[in-house]
Amino acid sequence: MYRSHNNGQLRANNINESVTLSGWVQKSRDKGFMIWVDLRDRYGITQLIFDEERTPKDIMNKAKTLGREFVIQVRGTVIERDSKNPNLPTGDIELLVSELIILNTAKLPPFTIEDTTDGGEELRMQYRYLDIRRNPVKDSLIFRHKVTQEVRNYLSQKDFIEVETPYLIKSTPEGARDFVVPSRMNEGQFYALPQSPQTFKQLLMVGGMDKYFQIVKCFRDEDLRADRQPEFTQIDCEMAFVEQEDILNIFEGLTRHLLKEINGVEVDKFPRMRFDDAMRLYGNDKPDIRFGMEFGELNEVAQHKDFKVFNSAELVVGIAVPGGASYTRKDIDKLIDWVKRPQVGALGMVYVKCNADGTFKSSVDKFYDQDDLAKWAEATGAKAGDLICVLSGDTNKVRPQLSALRMEIAERLDLRKSDEFAPLWVVDFPLLELDEETGHYHAMHHPFTSPKPGQIELLDTTPGAVKANAYDLVLNGNEIGGGSIRIHDKETQAIMFKHLGFTAEEAKAQFGFLMDAFEYGAPPHGGLAFGLDRLVAILGGQETIRDFIAFPKNNSGRDVMIDAPAAIDDAQLNELSLKLNLK
Ligand code: AMO
Repeated sequence: MYRSHNNGQLRANNINESVTLSGWVQKSRDKGFMIWVDLRDRYGITQLIFDEERTPKDIMNKAKTLGREFVIQVRGTVIERDSKNPNLPTGDIELLVSELIILNTAKLPPFTIEDTTDGGEELRMQYRYLDIRRNPVKDSLIFRHKVTQEVRNYLSQKDFIEVETPYLIKSTPEGARDFVVPSRMNEGQFYALPQSPQTFKQLLMVGGMDKYFQIVKCFRDEDLRADRQPEFTQIDCEMAFVEQEDILNIFEGLTRHLLKEINGVEVDKFPRMRFDDAMRLYGNDKPDIRFGMEFGELNEVAQHKDFKVFNSAELVVGIAVPGGASYTRKDIDKLIDWVKRPQVGALGMVYVKCNADGTFKSSVDKFYDQDDLAKWAEATGAKAGDLICVLSGDTNKVRPQLSALRMEIAERLDLRKSDEFAPLWVVDFPLLELDEETGHYHAMHHPFTSPKPGQIELLDTTPGAVKANAYDLVLNGNEIGGGSIRIHDKETQAIMFKHLGFTAEEAKAQFGFLMDAFEYGAPPHGGLAFGLDRLVAILGGQETIRDFIAFPKNNSGRDVMIDAPAAIDDAQLNELSLKLNLK
Protein backbone atom coordinates (compact mmCIF):
# COMPACT_ATOMS: atom_id res chain seq x y z
CA MET A 1 0.00 0.00 0.00
CA TYR A 2 1.52 3.28 -1.11
CA ARG A 3 -0.57 5.46 1.16
CA SER A 4 -3.08 5.24 3.98
CA HIS A 5 -3.98 8.92 3.75
CA ASN A 6 -3.45 11.71 1.28
CA ASN A 7 -1.44 14.83 2.05
CA GLY A 8 -4.38 17.08 2.71
CA GLN A 9 -6.08 14.80 5.16
CA LEU A 10 -4.36 14.56 8.52
CA ARG A 11 -5.57 16.72 11.41
CA ALA A 12 -5.03 17.01 15.16
CA ASN A 13 -7.43 14.11 15.76
CA ASN A 14 -4.99 11.80 13.93
CA ILE A 15 -2.21 12.47 16.44
CA ASN A 16 -0.41 9.29 17.51
CA GLU A 17 -1.68 7.33 14.49
CA SER A 18 0.76 5.43 12.30
CA VAL A 19 0.26 6.40 8.68
CA THR A 20 1.78 5.97 5.25
CA LEU A 21 2.02 8.88 2.84
CA SER A 22 3.30 9.26 -0.72
CA GLY A 23 3.93 12.31 -2.81
CA TRP A 24 6.39 14.83 -4.17
CA VAL A 25 8.98 16.77 -2.21
CA GLN A 26 7.90 20.39 -2.45
CA LYS A 27 10.81 21.60 -0.37
CA SER A 28 13.21 20.42 2.25
CA ARG A 29 14.83 22.39 5.09
CA ASP A 30 17.92 20.77 6.56
CA LYS A 31 19.07 22.09 9.94
CA GLY A 32 21.59 19.24 10.35
CA PHE A 33 20.02 17.60 13.38
CA MET A 34 16.52 18.07 12.00
CA ILE A 35 15.06 18.01 8.50
CA TRP A 36 11.61 19.22 7.52
CA VAL A 37 10.09 18.21 4.20
CA ASP A 38 6.87 19.50 2.66
CA LEU A 39 5.26 16.48 1.02
CA ARG A 40 2.77 17.39 -1.69
CA ASP A 41 0.10 15.61 -3.68
CA ARG A 42 -3.14 16.67 -5.39
CA TYR A 43 -4.86 17.04 -2.03
CA GLY A 44 -2.43 19.21 -0.15
CA ILE A 45 0.79 19.36 1.82
CA THR A 46 1.85 17.52 4.94
CA GLN A 47 5.00 18.44 6.80
CA LEU A 48 7.40 15.57 7.49
CA ILE A 49 9.97 15.76 10.24
CA PHE A 50 13.19 13.76 10.45
CA ASP A 51 14.83 14.20 13.83
CA GLU A 52 18.32 12.95 14.74
CA GLU A 53 17.10 11.86 18.15
CA ARG A 54 13.99 10.03 17.04
CA THR A 55 14.63 8.97 13.42
CA PRO A 56 16.87 5.99 12.56
CA LYS A 57 20.30 7.14 11.31
CA ASP A 58 20.04 5.50 7.85
CA ILE A 59 16.67 7.20 7.26
CA MET A 60 18.13 10.50 8.43
CA ASN A 61 20.96 10.11 5.91
CA LYS A 62 18.59 9.21 3.12
CA ALA A 63 16.44 12.24 3.94
CA LYS A 64 19.50 14.43 3.39
CA THR A 65 19.62 13.28 -0.26
CA LEU A 66 16.06 14.35 -1.06
CA GLY A 67 15.75 16.95 -3.81
CA ARG A 68 12.83 18.96 -5.08
CA GLU A 69 10.15 16.85 -6.80
CA PHE A 70 11.57 13.50 -5.67
CA VAL A 71 8.72 11.00 -5.34
CA ILE A 72 8.79 9.35 -1.95
CA GLN A 73 6.85 7.11 0.35
CA VAL A 74 7.06 7.56 4.11
CA ARG A 75 5.77 5.81 7.19
CA GLY A 76 5.65 7.37 10.59
CA THR A 77 3.61 8.72 13.46
CA VAL A 78 1.43 11.80 13.40
CA ILE A 79 2.59 14.25 16.06
CA GLU A 80 1.55 17.71 17.18
CA ARG A 81 3.58 20.52 15.69
CA ASP A 82 5.56 22.81 17.93
CA SER A 83 4.88 25.83 15.74
CA LYS A 84 1.52 25.46 14.04
CA ASN A 85 0.77 26.82 10.58
CA PRO A 86 -2.76 28.28 10.50
CA ASN A 87 -2.51 28.75 6.70
CA LEU A 88 -2.33 25.01 6.06
CA PRO A 89 -5.28 22.65 6.72
CA THR A 90 -2.73 20.12 7.99
CA GLY A 91 -0.84 22.84 9.86
CA ASP A 92 -1.48 21.49 13.38
CA ILE A 93 0.42 18.27 12.82
CA GLU A 94 3.52 16.82 11.25
CA LEU A 95 4.67 13.30 10.50
CA LEU A 96 7.61 11.97 12.45
CA VAL A 97 9.15 9.70 9.82
CA SER A 98 10.42 6.22 10.67
CA GLU A 99 10.66 4.77 7.13
CA LEU A 100 11.50 6.45 3.86
CA ILE A 101 11.43 4.94 0.37
CA ILE A 102 12.57 6.98 -2.60
CA LEU A 103 10.17 5.90 -5.35
CA ASN A 104 11.80 8.09 -7.96
CA THR A 105 14.35 10.83 -8.17
CA ALA A 106 13.72 14.04 -10.14
CA LYS A 107 15.80 16.44 -12.12
CA LEU A 108 15.69 20.01 -10.86
CA PRO A 109 12.43 21.39 -12.35
CA PRO A 110 12.87 24.26 -14.83
CA PHE A 111 10.58 26.48 -12.76
CA THR A 112 9.38 26.57 -9.19
CA ILE A 113 6.33 24.46 -8.57
CA GLU A 114 4.51 26.88 -6.31
CA ASP A 115 1.40 29.03 -6.62
CA THR A 116 3.42 31.93 -7.98
CA THR A 117 6.12 30.54 -10.19
CA ASP A 118 9.15 32.03 -11.91
CA GLY A 119 8.31 30.04 -15.09
CA GLY A 120 7.20 31.94 -18.19
CA GLU A 121 4.18 30.83 -20.21
CA GLU A 122 6.14 29.01 -22.94
CA LEU A 123 8.31 27.12 -20.44
CA ARG A 124 5.31 26.10 -18.38
CA MET A 125 3.57 24.84 -21.53
CA GLN A 126 6.64 22.84 -22.51
CA TYR A 127 6.62 21.15 -19.10
CA ARG A 128 2.88 21.22 -18.65
CA TYR A 129 2.96 18.04 -16.52
CA LEU A 130 4.99 20.02 -13.97
CA ASP A 131 2.70 23.04 -14.31
CA ILE A 132 -0.27 20.79 -13.52
CA ARG A 133 1.33 20.04 -10.15
CA ARG A 134 0.87 23.73 -9.26
CA ASN A 135 -2.31 24.63 -7.36
CA PRO A 136 -3.69 27.24 -9.80
CA VAL A 137 -3.57 24.83 -12.76
CA LYS A 138 -4.58 21.76 -10.78
CA ASP A 139 -7.50 23.62 -9.21
CA SER A 140 -8.69 24.85 -12.62
CA LEU A 141 -8.80 21.27 -13.93
CA ILE A 142 -10.70 20.10 -10.86
CA PHE A 143 -13.04 23.06 -11.27
CA ARG A 144 -13.66 22.06 -14.89
CA HIS A 145 -14.44 18.52 -13.78
CA LYS A 146 -17.03 19.84 -11.32
CA VAL A 147 -18.70 21.91 -14.03
CA THR A 148 -18.89 18.99 -16.48
CA GLN A 149 -20.19 16.74 -13.71
CA GLU A 150 -22.98 19.22 -12.94
CA VAL A 151 -23.80 19.57 -16.63
CA ARG A 152 -24.11 15.80 -16.99
CA ASN A 153 -26.23 15.57 -13.84
CA TYR A 154 -28.58 18.34 -14.87
CA LEU A 155 -29.11 17.21 -18.44
CA SER A 156 -29.43 13.54 -17.53
CA GLN A 157 -32.10 14.45 -15.00
CA LYS A 158 -33.95 16.28 -17.74
CA ASP A 159 -33.95 13.11 -19.90
CA PHE A 160 -31.12 14.11 -22.24
CA ILE A 161 -29.10 11.20 -23.63
CA GLU A 162 -25.37 11.60 -24.25
CA VAL A 163 -24.53 10.19 -27.67
CA GLU A 164 -21.10 10.20 -29.29
CA THR A 165 -20.81 11.25 -32.89
CA PRO A 166 -17.85 10.60 -35.21
CA TYR A 167 -14.72 12.70 -35.52
CA LEU A 168 -13.77 11.55 -39.01
CA ILE A 169 -16.46 13.23 -41.05
CA LYS A 170 -17.20 15.49 -43.95
CA SER A 171 -16.98 19.24 -43.56
CA THR A 172 -19.59 20.91 -41.31
CA PRO A 173 -19.61 24.61 -42.07
CA GLU A 174 -19.43 26.66 -38.86
CA GLY A 175 -17.55 29.51 -40.45
CA ALA A 176 -13.95 28.40 -39.87
CA ARG A 177 -11.54 26.30 -41.92
CA ASP A 178 -11.54 22.55 -41.47
CA PHE A 179 -8.71 20.44 -40.19
CA VAL A 180 -8.47 17.57 -42.64
CA VAL A 181 -7.21 14.02 -42.32
CA PRO A 182 -6.06 12.11 -45.40
CA SER A 183 -7.58 8.67 -45.90
CA ARG A 184 -5.06 5.89 -46.64
CA MET A 185 -7.72 3.51 -47.87
CA ASN A 186 -9.39 6.05 -50.11
CA GLU A 187 -6.62 7.52 -52.16
CA GLY A 188 -6.82 11.27 -52.66
CA GLN A 189 -9.73 11.63 -50.24
CA PHE A 190 -9.91 13.39 -46.91
CA TYR A 191 -11.98 13.37 -43.80
CA ALA A 192 -12.66 16.66 -42.07
CA LEU A 193 -12.60 16.90 -38.30
CA PRO A 194 -15.93 18.29 -37.06
CA GLN A 195 -16.17 22.01 -36.40
CA SER A 196 -19.20 20.85 -34.42
CA PRO A 197 -21.45 17.78 -34.49
CA GLN A 198 -24.17 19.96 -36.05
CA THR A 199 -25.43 17.67 -38.83
CA PHE A 200 -25.14 14.53 -36.72
CA LYS A 201 -27.22 15.95 -33.92
CA GLN A 202 -29.88 16.90 -36.41
CA LEU A 203 -29.81 13.35 -37.79
CA LEU A 204 -30.22 12.08 -34.22
CA MET A 205 -33.43 14.12 -34.07
CA VAL A 206 -34.61 12.43 -37.25
CA GLY A 207 -33.63 9.20 -35.48
CA GLY A 208 -36.04 10.02 -32.66
CA MET A 209 -33.46 10.76 -29.88
CA ASP A 210 -35.45 13.83 -29.00
CA LYS A 211 -33.14 15.16 -26.27
CA TYR A 212 -29.45 14.77 -27.04
CA PHE A 213 -26.30 16.16 -25.54
CA GLN A 214 -22.62 15.49 -25.87
CA ILE A 215 -19.53 16.93 -24.24
CA VAL A 216 -17.49 16.88 -27.37
CA LYS A 217 -14.25 18.06 -28.95
CA CYS A 218 -14.63 20.40 -31.92
CA PHE A 219 -11.88 21.46 -34.30
CA ARG A 220 -11.59 24.79 -36.06
CA ASP A 221 -8.65 26.08 -38.01
CA GLU A 222 -8.98 29.77 -37.18
CA ASP A 223 -6.84 32.54 -35.74
CA LEU A 224 -6.37 32.06 -32.05
CA ARG A 225 -7.20 34.43 -29.20
CA ALA A 226 -7.48 34.21 -25.45
CA ASP A 227 -10.95 32.68 -25.81
CA ARG A 228 -10.23 30.44 -28.80
CA GLN A 229 -8.36 27.19 -29.23
CA PRO A 230 -8.09 25.11 -32.42
CA GLU A 231 -9.55 22.18 -30.53
CA PHE A 232 -12.05 23.06 -27.89
CA THR A 233 -15.00 21.45 -26.16
CA GLN A 234 -18.70 22.04 -26.60
CA ILE A 235 -21.65 21.01 -24.51
CA ASP A 236 -23.60 20.25 -27.65
CA CYS A 237 -27.37 19.91 -27.28
CA GLU A 238 -30.37 19.33 -29.50
CA MET A 239 -34.09 18.80 -28.88
CA ALA A 240 -37.01 17.81 -31.09
CA PHE A 241 -40.57 19.16 -30.90
CA VAL A 242 -39.44 22.45 -29.42
CA GLU A 243 -39.69 26.14 -30.15
CA GLN A 244 -37.09 28.76 -29.38
CA GLU A 245 -38.78 29.52 -26.06
CA ASP A 246 -38.40 25.89 -24.88
CA ILE A 247 -34.71 25.91 -25.69
CA LEU A 248 -34.02 29.22 -24.00
CA ASN A 249 -35.82 28.02 -20.89
CA ILE A 250 -34.04 24.71 -20.56
CA PHE A 251 -30.54 26.09 -21.10
CA GLU A 252 -31.21 29.11 -18.95
CA GLY A 253 -32.09 26.51 -16.34
CA LEU A 254 -28.79 24.71 -16.87
CA THR A 255 -26.80 27.95 -16.62
CA ARG A 256 -28.67 29.01 -13.52
CA HIS A 257 -28.04 25.58 -11.99
CA LEU A 258 -24.30 25.93 -12.66
CA LEU A 259 -24.14 29.45 -11.24
CA LYS A 260 -25.85 28.20 -8.10
CA GLU A 261 -23.98 24.92 -7.61
CA ILE A 262 -20.56 26.12 -8.71
CA ASN A 263 -20.54 29.78 -7.70
CA GLY A 264 -23.28 29.92 -5.10
CA VAL A 265 -24.90 32.75 -7.05
CA GLU A 266 -28.65 33.04 -7.63
CA VAL A 267 -29.62 34.99 -10.74
CA ASP A 268 -33.00 36.23 -11.85
CA LYS A 269 -34.56 35.41 -15.18
CA PHE A 270 -32.01 36.21 -17.88
CA PRO A 271 -32.72 39.41 -19.75
CA ARG A 272 -33.13 39.18 -23.52
CA MET A 273 -31.93 41.70 -26.04
CA ARG A 274 -32.51 41.84 -29.76
CA PHE A 275 -29.37 41.67 -31.88
CA ASP A 276 -30.17 45.09 -33.37
CA ASP A 277 -30.46 46.64 -29.92
CA ALA A 278 -27.21 45.04 -28.75
CA MET A 279 -25.44 46.55 -31.73
CA ARG A 280 -27.07 49.95 -31.23
CA LEU A 281 -26.54 50.17 -27.47
CA TYR A 282 -23.21 48.36 -27.09
CA GLY A 283 -21.77 48.11 -30.61
CA ASN A 284 -21.40 44.43 -30.02
CA ASP A 285 -23.45 41.23 -30.19
CA LYS A 286 -22.10 40.02 -26.85
CA PRO A 287 -22.46 43.00 -24.54
CA ASP A 288 -21.11 42.98 -21.03
CA ILE A 289 -24.08 44.32 -19.09
CA ARG A 290 -22.40 44.28 -15.67
CA PHE A 291 -21.94 48.01 -16.13
CA GLY A 292 -23.72 50.80 -18.04
CA MET A 293 -21.97 53.17 -20.46
CA GLU A 294 -24.56 52.51 -23.14
CA PHE A 295 -24.01 54.15 -26.49
CA GLY A 296 -25.80 57.41 -27.25
CA GLU A 297 -26.27 58.06 -30.97
CA LEU A 298 -25.59 61.72 -31.70
CA ASN A 299 -26.32 62.16 -35.42
CA GLU A 300 -29.36 64.32 -34.77
CA VAL A 301 -27.66 66.61 -32.29
CA ALA A 302 -24.13 66.70 -33.70
CA GLN A 303 -24.57 66.87 -37.45
CA HIS A 304 -25.43 69.86 -39.66
CA LYS A 305 -23.12 72.20 -37.79
CA ASP A 306 -19.79 73.23 -39.30
CA PHE A 307 -17.88 70.18 -38.10
CA LYS A 308 -17.17 68.35 -41.35
CA VAL A 309 -15.89 65.15 -39.74
CA PHE A 310 -19.28 64.53 -38.13
CA ASN A 311 -21.32 65.76 -41.08
CA SER A 312 -19.73 63.24 -43.41
CA ALA A 313 -20.04 60.34 -40.97
CA GLU A 314 -22.71 57.66 -41.19
CA LEU A 315 -22.78 57.41 -37.40
CA VAL A 316 -21.74 59.76 -34.61
CA VAL A 317 -21.88 57.93 -31.30
CA GLY A 318 -20.63 58.46 -27.78
CA ILE A 319 -20.38 57.01 -24.28
CA ALA A 320 -20.24 58.69 -20.90
CA VAL A 321 -17.24 57.71 -18.80
CA PRO A 322 -18.17 57.95 -15.12
CA GLY A 323 -15.94 60.45 -13.31
CA GLY A 324 -13.97 61.11 -16.50
CA ALA A 325 -14.20 64.91 -16.25
CA SER A 326 -11.26 64.76 -13.86
CA TYR A 327 -8.97 63.24 -16.53
CA THR A 328 -6.00 65.44 -17.35
CA ARG A 329 -5.19 66.49 -20.89
CA LYS A 330 -2.48 63.84 -20.82
CA ASP A 331 -4.94 61.10 -19.72
CA ILE A 332 -7.28 62.03 -22.55
CA ASP A 333 -4.45 62.12 -25.09
CA LYS A 334 -3.56 58.62 -23.99
CA LEU A 335 -7.16 57.49 -24.56
CA ILE A 336 -7.08 59.08 -28.01
CA ASP A 337 -3.84 57.25 -28.80
CA TRP A 338 -5.47 54.05 -27.56
CA VAL A 339 -8.43 54.31 -29.97
CA LYS A 340 -6.06 55.18 -32.80
CA ARG A 341 -4.01 51.99 -32.36
CA PRO A 342 -4.34 49.77 -35.43
CA GLN A 343 -6.09 47.10 -33.34
CA VAL A 344 -8.94 49.56 -32.71
CA GLY A 345 -8.57 51.72 -35.79
CA ALA A 346 -10.43 54.94 -34.95
CA LEU A 347 -9.23 58.05 -36.76
CA GLY A 348 -9.66 60.26 -33.71
CA MET A 349 -11.88 60.96 -30.73
CA VAL A 350 -13.90 64.00 -29.75
CA TYR A 351 -14.47 64.53 -26.03
CA VAL A 352 -16.64 66.63 -23.77
CA LYS A 353 -15.92 67.25 -20.10
CA CYS A 354 -19.11 67.62 -18.08
CA ASN A 355 -18.00 69.98 -15.35
CA ALA A 356 -19.34 69.86 -11.81
CA ASP A 357 -20.96 73.31 -12.27
CA GLY A 358 -23.07 72.05 -15.16
CA THR A 359 -20.96 73.64 -17.92
CA PHE A 360 -19.22 71.71 -20.67
CA LYS A 361 -15.74 71.90 -22.13
CA SER A 362 -15.18 70.04 -25.36
CA SER A 363 -12.46 69.47 -27.93
CA VAL A 364 -14.84 70.93 -30.53
CA ASP A 365 -15.97 74.10 -28.71
CA LYS A 366 -15.43 75.95 -31.97
CA PHE A 367 -18.42 74.21 -33.52
CA TYR A 368 -20.76 73.47 -30.63
CA ASP A 369 -22.21 75.71 -27.91
CA GLN A 370 -23.30 74.76 -24.40
CA ASP A 371 -26.86 73.93 -25.49
CA ASP A 372 -25.55 71.55 -28.17
CA LEU A 373 -23.30 69.81 -25.70
CA ALA A 374 -26.12 69.53 -23.16
CA LYS A 375 -27.98 67.50 -25.80
CA TRP A 376 -24.98 65.22 -26.21
CA ALA A 377 -24.94 64.70 -22.45
CA GLU A 378 -28.61 63.84 -22.51
CA ALA A 379 -28.19 61.34 -25.36
CA THR A 380 -25.27 59.57 -23.68
CA GLY A 381 -26.68 59.79 -20.14
CA ALA A 382 -23.64 61.80 -19.00
CA LYS A 383 -23.82 63.46 -15.60
CA ALA A 384 -21.78 66.25 -14.08
CA GLY A 385 -18.28 64.88 -13.54
CA ASP A 386 -18.37 62.53 -16.54
CA LEU A 387 -16.41 62.58 -19.77
CA ILE A 388 -18.20 61.99 -23.07
CA CYS A 389 -16.08 60.16 -25.66
CA VAL A 390 -17.37 60.42 -29.21
CA LEU A 391 -16.34 58.49 -32.32
CA SER A 392 -17.69 58.81 -35.83
CA GLY A 393 -17.49 57.03 -39.18
CA ASP A 394 -19.08 54.08 -40.94
CA THR A 395 -21.57 52.37 -38.64
CA ASN A 396 -20.03 48.92 -38.96
CA LYS A 397 -16.58 50.31 -38.16
CA VAL A 398 -17.37 52.85 -35.48
CA ARG A 399 -19.53 50.55 -33.36
CA PRO A 400 -16.80 47.97 -32.72
CA GLN A 401 -14.33 50.80 -32.10
CA LEU A 402 -16.48 52.42 -29.43
CA SER A 403 -17.28 48.98 -28.03
CA ALA A 404 -13.55 48.33 -27.62
CA LEU A 405 -13.15 51.69 -25.87
CA ARG A 406 -16.10 50.94 -23.59
CA MET A 407 -14.56 47.62 -22.53
CA GLU A 408 -11.12 49.16 -22.05
CA ILE A 409 -12.49 51.91 -19.85
CA ALA A 410 -14.54 49.41 -17.85
CA GLU A 411 -11.38 47.37 -17.33
CA ARG A 412 -9.47 50.47 -16.17
CA LEU A 413 -12.29 51.52 -13.84
CA ASP A 414 -12.51 47.96 -12.48
CA LEU A 415 -16.16 47.65 -13.49
CA ARG A 416 -15.75 44.09 -14.80
CA LYS A 417 -15.95 42.23 -11.51
CA SER A 418 -15.15 38.55 -11.92
CA ASP A 419 -17.46 37.47 -9.10
CA GLU A 420 -20.46 39.26 -10.60
CA PHE A 421 -22.46 37.38 -13.22
CA ALA A 422 -24.63 39.05 -15.82
CA PRO A 423 -26.07 36.51 -18.28
CA LEU A 424 -27.97 37.72 -21.31
CA TRP A 425 -29.76 36.15 -24.24
CA VAL A 426 -29.15 37.92 -27.52
CA VAL A 427 -31.98 36.98 -29.89
CA ASP A 428 -33.30 37.75 -33.37
CA PHE A 429 -29.97 37.49 -35.15
CA PRO A 430 -29.96 38.20 -38.88
CA LEU A 431 -30.08 35.00 -40.92
CA LEU A 432 -27.40 36.15 -43.33
CA GLU A 433 -24.36 38.33 -43.13
CA LEU A 434 -22.76 40.17 -46.04
CA ASP A 435 -19.12 39.38 -46.64
CA GLU A 436 -17.77 42.82 -47.55
CA GLU A 437 -14.81 41.38 -49.43
CA THR A 438 -16.65 38.98 -51.72
CA GLY A 439 -20.01 40.74 -51.75
CA HIS A 440 -21.67 37.38 -51.00
CA TYR A 441 -23.99 36.52 -48.15
CA HIS A 442 -23.12 33.74 -45.78
CA ALA A 443 -25.07 32.21 -42.92
CA MET A 444 -24.55 34.22 -39.76
CA HIS A 445 -25.02 31.17 -37.54
CA HIS A 446 -24.90 28.21 -39.93
CA PRO A 447 -26.81 27.13 -43.05
CA PHE A 448 -29.22 24.91 -41.08
CA THR A 449 -30.73 27.80 -39.14
CA SER A 450 -34.33 28.57 -39.94
CA PRO A 451 -35.55 32.03 -40.89
CA LYS A 452 -38.27 33.57 -38.73
CA PRO A 453 -41.71 32.40 -39.82
CA GLY A 454 -43.00 34.35 -42.81
CA GLN A 455 -39.65 35.90 -43.66
CA ILE A 456 -38.40 33.42 -46.21
CA GLU A 457 -39.89 35.44 -49.06
CA LEU A 458 -37.68 38.37 -48.11
CA LEU A 459 -34.64 36.31 -49.10
CA ASP A 460 -35.19 37.31 -52.71
CA THR A 461 -35.61 41.02 -52.08
CA THR A 462 -33.78 42.06 -48.90
CA PRO A 463 -31.69 39.07 -47.76
CA GLY A 464 -29.83 41.14 -45.16
CA ALA A 465 -33.09 41.99 -43.40
CA VAL A 466 -34.21 38.40 -42.80
CA LYS A 467 -34.10 37.51 -39.14
CA ALA A 468 -33.39 34.01 -37.85
CA ASN A 469 -34.61 31.94 -34.96
CA ALA A 470 -31.09 32.15 -33.66
CA TYR A 471 -29.81 33.10 -30.22
CA ASP A 472 -26.58 33.44 -28.28
CA LEU A 473 -26.04 33.13 -24.57
CA VAL A 474 -23.72 35.84 -23.33
CA LEU A 475 -22.07 35.86 -19.92
CA ASN A 476 -20.08 38.89 -18.77
CA GLY A 477 -19.37 40.00 -22.32
CA ASN A 478 -18.42 36.57 -23.63
CA GLU A 479 -20.38 34.41 -26.05
CA ILE A 480 -20.63 31.20 -24.09
CA GLY A 481 -23.21 29.52 -26.28
CA GLY A 482 -25.18 29.80 -29.46
CA GLY A 483 -27.88 27.95 -31.31
CA SER A 484 -30.97 28.09 -33.42
CA ILE A 485 -34.19 26.47 -34.49
CA ARG A 486 -33.34 24.44 -37.57
CA ILE A 487 -34.82 24.07 -40.98
CA HIS A 488 -36.46 20.64 -41.06
CA ASP A 489 -37.83 20.41 -44.58
CA LYS A 490 -35.95 19.80 -47.77
CA GLU A 491 -37.46 22.67 -49.75
CA THR A 492 -36.53 25.38 -47.27
CA GLN A 493 -33.07 23.91 -46.87
CA ALA A 494 -32.65 23.95 -50.66
CA ILE A 495 -33.73 27.63 -50.83
CA MET A 496 -31.24 28.42 -48.10
CA PHE A 497 -28.37 26.71 -49.91
CA LYS A 498 -29.28 28.54 -53.09
CA HIS A 499 -29.04 31.89 -51.30
CA LEU A 500 -25.69 30.90 -49.85
CA GLY A 501 -24.37 30.44 -53.36
CA PHE A 502 -24.50 26.64 -53.64
CA THR A 503 -25.68 25.11 -56.91
CA ALA A 504 -28.22 22.31 -56.46
CA GLU A 505 -25.45 19.82 -57.34
CA GLU A 506 -23.02 21.27 -54.79
CA ALA A 507 -25.68 21.22 -52.09
CA LYS A 508 -26.49 17.61 -52.90
CA ALA A 509 -22.84 16.55 -52.95
CA GLN A 510 -22.11 18.18 -49.60
CA PHE A 511 -25.34 17.84 -47.68
CA GLY A 512 -27.42 15.33 -49.66
CA PHE A 513 -27.46 13.01 -46.63
CA LEU A 514 -29.21 15.67 -44.53
CA MET A 515 -31.63 16.71 -47.26
CA ASP A 516 -32.49 13.02 -47.81
CA ALA A 517 -33.07 12.54 -44.10
CA PHE A 518 -35.51 15.45 -44.12
CA GLU A 519 -37.67 13.37 -46.48
CA TYR A 520 -38.11 10.61 -43.91
CA GLY A 521 -40.12 12.36 -41.26
CA ALA A 522 -37.81 14.97 -39.71
CA PRO A 523 -39.39 16.49 -36.60
CA PRO A 524 -39.20 20.22 -35.88
CA HIS A 525 -36.02 20.64 -33.86
CA GLY A 526 -33.48 23.08 -32.54
CA GLY A 527 -30.63 23.32 -30.10
CA LEU A 528 -27.60 25.07 -28.88
CA ALA A 529 -23.97 24.49 -27.99
CA PHE A 530 -22.10 25.97 -25.09
CA GLY A 531 -18.37 26.55 -25.36
CA LEU A 532 -17.36 24.53 -22.31
CA ASP A 533 -13.87 26.01 -22.05
CA ARG A 534 -15.27 29.55 -22.06
CA LEU A 535 -18.07 28.71 -19.68
CA VAL A 536 -15.66 27.13 -17.20
CA ALA A 537 -13.19 30.01 -17.47
CA ILE A 538 -15.86 32.63 -16.81
CA LEU A 539 -17.44 30.72 -13.94
CA GLY A 540 -13.87 30.51 -12.63
CA GLY A 541 -13.61 34.30 -12.86
CA GLN A 542 -11.24 34.38 -15.83
CA GLU A 543 -11.33 34.86 -19.58
CA THR A 544 -8.30 32.91 -20.78
CA ILE A 545 -9.49 29.42 -21.61
CA ARG A 546 -5.95 27.99 -21.86
CA ASP A 547 -5.73 27.93 -18.08
CA PHE A 548 -8.67 25.53 -17.91
CA ILE A 549 -7.37 23.10 -20.55
CA ALA A 550 -4.94 20.38 -19.47
CA PHE A 551 -2.81 20.46 -22.61
CA PRO A 552 -3.60 23.60 -24.60
CA LYS A 553 -2.05 24.87 -27.82
CA ASN A 554 -0.10 28.12 -27.96
CA ASN A 555 -1.10 31.12 -30.07
CA SER A 556 0.41 29.59 -33.20
CA GLY A 557 -1.64 26.44 -32.71
CA ARG A 558 1.37 24.47 -31.50
CA ASP A 559 1.61 22.00 -28.68
CA VAL A 560 5.10 22.93 -27.52
CA MET A 561 5.28 19.96 -25.14
CA ILE A 562 4.89 17.19 -27.71
CA ASP A 563 6.07 19.49 -30.52
CA ALA A 564 3.06 19.18 -32.78
CA PRO A 565 2.29 19.69 -35.58
CA ALA A 566 5.33 17.98 -37.05
CA ALA A 567 6.53 16.74 -40.41
CA ILE A 568 5.82 13.13 -41.31
CA ASP A 569 8.27 10.93 -43.14
CA ASP A 570 8.20 10.14 -46.84
CA ALA A 571 7.00 6.57 -46.32
CA GLN A 572 3.93 7.86 -44.49
CA LEU A 573 3.33 10.49 -47.17
CA ASN A 574 3.56 7.83 -49.87
CA GLU A 575 1.18 5.57 -48.04
CA LEU A 576 -1.32 8.43 -47.97
CA SER A 577 -0.64 9.22 -51.64
CA LEU A 578 0.41 12.73 -50.65
CA LYS A 579 3.09 14.83 -52.21
CA LEU A 580 4.26 18.01 -50.52
CA ASN A 581 4.66 21.15 -52.53
CA LEU A 582 6.38 23.40 -50.02
CA LYS A 583 7.37 26.89 -51.03
P1 AMO B 1 -21.03 28.09 -32.45
O1 AMO B 1 -20.17 28.11 -33.65
O2 AMO B 1 -21.66 29.38 -32.02
O3 AMO B 1 -22.26 27.11 -32.68
O4 AMO B 1 -20.22 27.47 -31.26
C1 AMO B 1 -20.81 27.29 -29.99
C2 AMO B 1 -19.92 27.84 -28.90
O5 AMO B 1 -18.63 27.25 -28.94
C3 AMO B 1 -17.66 28.16 -28.44
N1 AMO B 1 -16.56 28.27 -29.42
C4 AMO B 1 -15.26 28.18 -29.11
N2 AMO B 1 -14.63 28.02 -27.94
C5 AMO B 1 -13.29 27.96 -27.94
N3 AMO B 1 -12.54 28.01 -29.05
C6 AMO B 1 -13.10 28.16 -30.26
N4 AMO B 1 -12.34 28.20 -31.36
C7 AMO B 1 -14.54 28.27 -30.33
N5 AMO B 1 -15.43 28.42 -31.32
C8 AMO B 1 -16.64 28.41 -30.76
C9 AMO B 1 -18.36 29.48 -28.23
C10 AMO B 1 -19.63 29.32 -29.03
O6 AMO B 1 -20.70 30.07 -28.50
N6 AMO B 1 -23.33 23.93 -34.07
C11 AMO B 1 -23.53 25.24 -33.50
C12 AMO B 1 -24.41 25.19 -32.27
C13 AMO B 1 -25.85 25.02 -32.58
O7 AMO B 1 -26.36 25.68 -33.50
O8 AMO B 1 -26.51 24.26 -31.85
C14 AMO B 1 -22.18 25.83 -33.12
O9 AMO B 1 -21.16 25.17 -33.14
O10 AMO B 1 -18.67 29.63 -26.85
